[in-house]
Amino acid sequence: MILEAAKQKLEKYGQEHVLKYYDELSDSEKDALLAQIEETDMSILAACKNKEALAKKGVITPLAAMELDEIEANKESFFSTGLKAIKEGKVGALLLAGGMGTRLGSDDPKGMYNVGITRELYIFECLINNMMDVVKQADTWIHLFIMTSDKNNEATIKFLTEKEFFGYNKEYVHFFKQEMTAATDYEGKIYLEEKGKLSTSPNGNGGWFSSLRNAGLLDVVKSAGIEWLNVFAVDNVCQRIADPVFVGATIERNCVVGAKVVRKNAPDEKVGVMCLEDGKPSIVEYYELTDELMNAKDAKGEPAYNFGVILNYLFKEEELEKLLDGSLPLHIVEKKIPYLNEAGELIKPEEPNGYKFESLVLDMIHQLDTCLPFEVVRNKEFAPIKNKTGIDSVESARALLQENGVIL
Ligand code: UTP
Repeated sequence: MILEAAKQKLEKYGQEHVLKYYDELSDSEKDALLAQIEETDMSILAACKNKEALAKKGVITPLAAMELDEIEANKESFFSTGLKAIKEGKVGALLLAGGMGTRLGSDDPKGMYNVGITRELYIFECLINNMMDVVKQADTWIHLFIMTSDKNNEATIKFLTEKEFFGYNKEYVHFFKQEMTAATDYEGKIYLEEKGKLSTSPNGNGGWFSSLRNAGLLDVVKSAGIEWLNVFAVDNVCQRIADPVFVGATIERNCVVGAKVVRKNAPDEKVGVMCLEDGKPSIVEYYELTDELMNAKDAKGEPAYNFGVILNYLFKEEELEKLLDGSLPLHIVEKKIPYLNEAGELIKPEEPNGYKFESLVLDMIHQLDTCLPFEVVRNKEFAPIKNKTGIDSVESARALLQENGVIL
């Protein structure tokens, strides 16, 4: 892009300030900045001025989950259906590890966090150990796709390579990067993180399938014969991955997506809950749950919106291909964004200071016709590490790991 065209684009979106230091840059820095301006989608940034309009939901009604007793009664059948699919290579796993983990506050990728106490035990290692259980049961390796971002790709690959993938077969591990979006102040003005670099952050976990495609990895999916992708978050150290019972239940119930859910521990617990929205499966975020919905009861007198998602989904791959050209809703999230101040110094804020723009994997559910909410035992499968201490923290996850017999 030439300077004139960049200026026109910036003027159109009210972002001319990003050229403030242009004259001080070297030729290569100038080129890099112009290229970044060219590839950045600035049309979405103004959306932060009417955030509320983005959050509009349709008509919410309950969606029954498959509960533990039903799972127990059908366990053998689900297990054998699921294990067969895994043995036939029809199930792949996809780790969402492109997030910044700002709440945990470590500079390294979250998966590199050591949750061990008397020994080293990294988050990535916990996840791989969990996968190894199924690899052994099925006596086959499972393709593992790992999504990173520009911010943590190198560190993630270096770490896992040095650790020899914690015993996982590296031929079955495939990395790909998600796309980035600009990060702005509260007025929607893009921050600079260097004099010649717009501040960017990963574009949310909703872009995983298109990023997988953009990286050319759908070819691997297809040539391996993978029909189902188990997408999971990096931070839940207890979750079962490619769980044969879950896979079998989703297949047997003819659903195109399965979602692992836990029974909420309080009506106002901060998890997204499964529901129907305008008759299609959906997830309503905890802050969108009105008092009326929170207190609604089903036919059995139980809370009607009682199952929260844990970010472990099993997607039927061919259904996702149909969605590739569509778009997902935009979420505008307050974050701590490093930026250059007026004096050109880099500031790492302690408190949120602006917005990042994300699409979320949970919104993919609403674009699909059928979803099986599949209950798992919370203390066995839900130990997310979002913070250092308190709720959903290193501390709470350590306690659950120990409760499940993991030596720390
Ligand atoms: P979170 O919502 O916890 O976000 O991600 P985060 O960025 O990791 O952490 P905070 O909010 O800054 O503290 C849930 C899952 O989605 C992945 C994360 O890596 C995690 O596995 N994720 C999130 C991505 O892969 N890409 C993103 O852009 C955002």
